[in-house]
Amino acid sequence: MPARLAILASGRGSNLQAILDAIQAGTLDARIAGVFSDKPDAPALQRVPEALRWARTPKSCGGRDAFDTVLADAVAACAPDWVVCVGYMRILGDAFVQRFAGKILNIHPSLLPRHKGLHTHQRALDAGDGEHGASLHFVNAELDGGAVIAQARVPVHAGDDADALAARVLAVEHPLLLEVLRLAASGRLAERDGHATLDGQPLFTPLPLQSPKA
Ligand code: GAR
Repeated sequence: MPARLAILASGRGSNLQAILDAIQAGTLDARIAGVFSDKPDAPALQRVPEALRWARTPKSCGGRDAFDTVLADAVAACAPDWVVCVGYMRILGDAFVQRFAGKILNIHPSLLPRHKGLHTHQRALDAGDGEHGASLHFVNAELDGGAVIAQARVPVHAGDDADALAARVLAVEHPLLLEVLRLAASGRLAERDGHATLDGQPLFTPLPLQSPKA
């Protein structure tokens, strides 16, 4: 059975599109069970048929906690094997994280634990980093703090601005995401005692991105 993916996205949705393309091409054994957004006008939603779209705002639900509950119920209703955050720009509440513990993945545009949070590309430049990249990690209650599964690295070039660096990172995010989703979909990936495991063995360092292609 293809793995059922619940996708959480707030924005453009290029990572979602990479997933859709890989499913279409037959290189990822998964199906999209639903796309969930806190931004009703998120372009990501337009990438899937209407029946798969869900969008609410915290305001429309009567507050943050209520939103988290409504979101969690909607996600649970599509019975996902994995909850995948791709550019989901809201912190998931503790109740949500606990409900889907060990099943939530997030792609973050930095080499964690460096640059948790926002504006990662500018912060990498400001810090004078020679290398930057993206991380795929399990989500826990700490912001961008869960076990890192895999990372993709890119060089920082002299003269880069945040946009140039973001574009270089995005190009490696898509294959990184797909590589990890293939491991997840085939049942090889899990979280145990705060560690990511592959084939039952703890990963003490993040996997490097293997394939340069999405
Ligand atoms: C990606 O760069 C992703 O790493 C980042 O948002 C972008 C979404 O792009 N995520 C975060 O910053 C999460 N804190 P997309 O909408 O084109 O997939």
